[in-house]
Amino acid sequence: MAESTPPHPVLEAYYSVAADRQSFVGELFDGAARHYNHIGRMLDLGSGPMYRRQALQRAGLRRGMRLLDVATGTGLVARGAVEILGDPRGVVGVDPSGGMLREARTALSGPLVRGRGEALPFREDTFDMLSMGFALRHVPDLEIAFSEYRRVLKPGGRVLLLEVSRPASRVSRWLMQTHFQRVLPMLTRLSTGSEPAELLMKYYWDTIDRCVAPETILGVLRRNGFVGVERRVFFGFLSEYVAVKPDR
Ligand SMILES: C[S@@+](CC[C@H](N)C(=O)[O-])C[C@H]1O[C@@H](n2cnc3c(N)ncnc32)[C@H](O)[C@@H]1O
Repeated sequence: MAESTPPHPVLEAYYSVAADRQSFVGELFDGAARHYNHIGRMLDLGSGPMYRRQALQRAGLRRGMRLLDVATGTGLVARGAVEILGDPRGVVGVDPSGGMLREARTALSGPLVRGRGEALPFREDTFDMLSMGFALRHVPDLEIAFSEYRRVLKPGGRVLLLEVSRPASRVSRWLMQTHFQRVLPMLTRLSTGSEPAELLMKYYWDTIDRCVAPETILGVLRRNGFVGVERRVFFGFLSEYVAVKPDR
């Protein structure tokens, strides 16, 4: 039987069986979509767009390439990519949430498509690079998603996964947990009055805390045919996973 690697176990505080996870996540993002960029600015003090653009440059995104941004959300990674490529049509954004895509449309003129990472609506060998920003915790199975990523990339194409990882040190972990579970949900509730936005912050931390280890993510990339698999870590908790689809 094919191997299965969910990014985290069932989180019973939010949904009771694995089959309910996707509808829970869908409602969560649809409900919080119009507050997502505001929450993001509270989270990273406005450094998020620059960080995403620099990560794309580090991974090798250059003019003339075609990028698929999976889990594009409100388009924060895609916007960084458009700045680098200088061509809005060079970036295709895909996301299952209609609410998030509506927000993305206010800032992006290129193609935006409804779809999931684990079943991408694109032909094989289509893109030079594929990015996924802070969303690998939301696909049901990393094996299926990464095999899809390899399918749609051209030979020699690269995948870039940005993720927040649980810090190794107990003190940093406690600080992050307090920030994500208490401070940010309270600030979110006060500044937006939105329950889904507050819930999104709590869920965000729980998925980070229960996420499979970085070594597992690296192993799933290798098992699904990627080479040159690497993880770079910034500030102890920002992970950039880079991997290459082999040339034929
Ligand atoms: C935290 S947001 C990340 C948005 C954006 N990439 C960024 O860097 O800000 C997570 C996104 O993952 C999307 N998502 C949820 N399940 C997904 C799936 N199975 N495949 C692809 N995207 C998914 C959500 O709709 C949401 O827009």
